[in-house]
Amino acid sequence: MYRTNTCGELRKENIGTTVTLAGWVQTVRKFGAITFVDLRDRYGITQLLFGESLNTKLEEQPIGREYVIQVVGTVTERSNKNLHIPTGEIEINVTSFSILNKSAVPPFTIQDDTDGGDDLRMKYRFLDLRRNAVKKNLELRYAVNRSVRNYMHENLFMDIETPFLIKSTPEGARDFVVPSRMNPGQFYALPQSPQTFKQLLMVSGYDRYYQIVKCFRDEDLRADRQPEFTQIDCEMTFVEQEDILNMFEGLVKRVFKDVKNIDYTDRVERMTWEDAMWQYGNDKPDIRYGMQVLNLKSAFRKGGKITATGDLINGAGFGVFDNAETVLAIAVPGCAEYTRKQTDELTEWVKRPQIGMQGLVYIKCNVDGTYKSSVDKFYSEEKLKAIADAAGAVAGDLVLIVAGREERTRKAISDLRLELGKRLGLRKDNEFKLLWVLDFPLFEYAEDENRWVARHHPFTSPKPDHIEVMINNNPAIENADKYLEHPYSNIKANAYDLVLNGNEIGGGSIRIYQRSLQEKMFAALGMSEEEALHKFGFLLGAFEYGAPPHGGIAFGFDRLCSILGGSESIRDFIAFPKNNSGRDVMLDAPSTIDDKQFEELQIKLNFK
Ligand code: AMO
Repeated sequence: MYRTNTCGELRKENIGTTVTLAGWVQTVRKFGAITFVDLRDRYGITQLLFGESLNTKLEEQPIGREYVIQVVGTVTERSNKNLHIPTGEIEINVTSFSILNKSAVPPFTIQDDTDGGDDLRMKYRFLDLRRNAVKKNLELRYAVNRSVRNYMHENLFMDIETPFLIKSTPEGARDFVVPSRMNPGQFYALPQSPQTFKQLLMVSGYDRYYQIVKCFRDEDLRADRQPEFTQIDCEMTFVEQEDILNMFEGLVKRVFKDVKNIDYTDRVERMTWEDAMWQYGNDKPDIRYGMQVLNLKSAFRKGGKITATGDLINGAGFGVFDNAETVLAIAVPGCAEYTRKQTDELTEWVKRPQIGMQGLVYIKCNVDGTYKSSVDKFYSEEKLKAIADAAGAVAGDLVLIVAGREERTRKAISDLRLELGKRLGLRKDNEFKLLWVLDFPLFEYAEDENRWVARHHPFTSPKPDHIEVMINNNPAIENADKYLEHPYSNIKANAYDLVLNGNEIGGGSIRIYQRSLQEKMFAALGMSEEEALHKFGFLLGAFEYGAPPHGGIAFGFDRLCSILGGSESIRDFIAFPKNNSGRDVMLDAPSTIDDKQFEELQIKLNFK
């Protein structure tokens, strides 16, 4: 037997027992004739005491960091107790030991505050995984997994696996493709999600499906995006949007309870996509704090109209505002006393290429009731007050205003709001706020292709009273600059996202289930009949054999874990993640393959 107990298990009650432990050597400390060793395994750390009688053996067989050893000894009370760890009141008085395996000197120290940089830790990820901080994240991930499985099982969902070698499923990213040796010149695609399979399962009558499943997307990576990531993928038959919202806010609340012991009893707030964009500049607003956007001027389509309060700023002779498509403001609480240096720094912040603004205008709402701004030349104090009031500012606040092209400016004000929220401590790690964002647009205008693309995916149904608009209007866009005036820009989808603290943790929709409507959807997206049949003939065919009404959602499992764990990076919650260039630096993948493999696949490289 290798061990009688784990390194996290022994307590005062065990004093006097003889035990065998096995694990990794965390530290070796010599005090005169006595040697102390911290022995570590997945469960904890136990202190070992090697007395004088073992010194000769220790000299012959010295032990070092990360050696795997086995010891036999007696549990004794520690004179110098460490109350920070559960085993800190005891130690093992070692009577014999053996080295099970040696270790090279690890390239970084295996402890919470490690000296290893990111690249080094990723290269030696198997060592990094020994660290408590990483282990805690994987434990949390497993707890979320268990909680999800329990909830789904209790609600009659069936876990059904779907294939990885498939034909492309469009989710808006590029596919990873896999060449087929048996079918030369032909390729599988790895699924961007199991979307079409779960819909087929509904046609097959498995009315509640789920899967915790890998998805593959070749897209630009960020802290919350990996090329392969995991979804909690779900689908239900005979449901309306309301049924889905209730079922799945129940799931997230259950995870909160099981994993964080949080009773999220509030009803999850709901907001339309238009309101989210209008009030926060963003379709995944962090509603833990206010600081809502004031739309001074806009090209955004809201309630079927392009609308804003341009009268507050237009005509004062300030060209930046007069000529801008969009002018947006936020009131930052308590920051009227920002110095020139601080406002300059904020101006530089919005000018960075990631934000891309030309500049930043501010209005200081001084506590003495006066108003000072960087555009005093153009606006009277009454005008400044009117703008500040409209932005919801009170005495002591700082109003920040950006102007430019619609999309970029809305994103800029949203980023600025999030940044200031962070700087002012309004985005607290231990506060969780869920939000359903509803009524997304069905289409999005793709400027580079001059056509409509599905905002969610092509299987999402339009709102019932918007179907006619889709069917009766030609999708062609004559004037790209005026795409907002095309009736398609006003069609809303039966689609919803679940947002947690400003992160999109899940998204889904009620699906199209009639062949004729699905065909019209493909046509609206500019697909010819042949193309639609070639790509989605299997689905269109299935819709002819009794397809029931259905809908579903998928959660970003890694994202959910990272937010619950208080981290911005999903990599911390994935055992073997890729870096920002999509590389696994431990495996050194991707890499070239053998000539023989190219031959078998009948593939010839042709790099330009
Ligand atoms: P969607 O594309 O919105 O929907 O994806 C669902 C959720 O998956 C997460 N996610 C990601 N997480 C990490 N890395 C990525 N690259 C990544 N991309 C997406 C997000 C997102 O909310 N089939 C549909 C779902 C449906 O309609 O039921 C789908 O995949 O948290």
